Amino acid sequence: MTIMKSLKMTAAAVALSAGAAQAADVEVLHWWTSGGEAAALNVLKQDLEGQGVGWTDMPVAGGGGEQAMTVLRARVTAGNAPTAVQGLGFDILDWANQGALADLNAVAAQEGWDEVVPDALKAFAKVDGKWVSAPVNVHSTNWVWANKAVLDANGIGVPGTWEEFTAALETLKAAGVTPIAHGGQAWQDATVFDAVAMSVLGPDGYKAAFVDLDEDTLGSDAMKEAFDRMAVIRANVDDNFSGRDWNLATAMVINGEAGFQMMGDWAKGEFLNANKVPGEDFLCFRFPGTQDQVTFNADQFMMFDQGGSVSDEQAKLASAILSPSFQSAFNVVKGSVPARTDVSDADFDACGKQGMKDLAAAAASGNLFGSMAHGHAAPASVKNAVYDVVTAHFNGEYDSETAVQELVDAVSIAK
Ligand code: BGC
Repeated sequence: MTIMKSLKMTAAAVALSAGAAQAADVEVLHWWTSGGEAAALNVLKQDLEGQGVGWTDMPVAGGGGEQAMTVLRARVTAGNAPTAVQGLGFDILDWANQGALADLNAVAAQEGWDEVVPDALKAFAKVDGKWVSAPVNVHSTNWVWANKAVLDANGIGVPGTWEEFTAALETLKAAGVTPIAHGGQAWQDATVFDAVAMSVLGPDGYKAAFVDLDEDTLGSDAMKEAFDRMAVIRANVDDNFSGRDWNLATAMVINGEAGFQMMGDWAKGEFLNANKVPGEDFLCFRFPGTQDQVTFNADQFMMFDQGGSVSDEQAKLASAILSPSFQSAFNVVKGSVPARTDVSDADFDACGKQGMKDLAAAAASGNLFGSMAHGHAAPASVKNAVYDVVTAHFNGEYDSETAVQELVDAVSIAK
């Protein structure tokens, strides 16, 4: 290496570390790395830049956030926690119980979070009366995304029942179209399972199995039926599904290579990012048999305690996240719906409006449940146990009857 080149590299390294050390920066660890997710993240970055807060990006690719959580644990163990971290459900409670999170009560009180954030989110944002994270959105996992032209060309309408759905899958298969776009990663298999299990077990059964971890329900015939349906889904994905990222599966639906994808509403961000219009280019509907239920997950930003009270930058970030205008602007792009109950749906597209309506209705009728796949039904140990069984079954390691027994055993060990 020439001396000049090495000098330039040193200068670049110094500039970088000087940038990172700026007092007014927030370092944000997140897993929003797909096109749609990055577009949404930009809304937040720009909002903060407008307030003079710099942004040090710490993206960790991997849908569902498992890899991000591994990096987070390493950073915290090394005594170097990032300022703000995207987190989900029980993971947030876990960090709060370890005393790792800053107290956001002052910002929350000043801005009246208590009055506008729904109880379902408060359950994961407040611990012992202390706000420990700032809710960004509400996503839900029991959605299906469809290519409208593909459905129209094959005479398929929106399926309302499992039987209609399987008939549509057969029609697409016969027409040489991949019926279901799927990425074979444990969290994606589990995301599909959220909806499938809800459709078979119903709301009471879903809660008994994944929230109360009731052995009889975990080991029931209905659970076997849920696994049987997973096998039907497995039979309708293409040969290259294994390991595929979720957004590449969404791209298959966008491009008309596949008919459907079962995925949370972050998938809508990909359609929008590709300039597709709901109702014209793509359709969104609840997984057949779960039309009245919502299995939700909410992204929140945990503010890691940097030694002392919450920093100015953390307070600004938290405050920006909860502002009504940000809640609308961000969630319109992200595919999620606002984490506040008082935000107008005027700027949301048809799927977003439906998402807001469904959420309010499900909350009012007792049909709103935390997503198992995205850490809002049970702690990570149980979630991971469910992942293992669902994925092993999906990949044909054992039949549905064995899967049910494995599920009972794995959950009982993990809980
Ligand atoms: C997060 C979403 C994210 C998705 C895929 C989910 O766990 O809640 O915000 O878009 O994972 O990365």
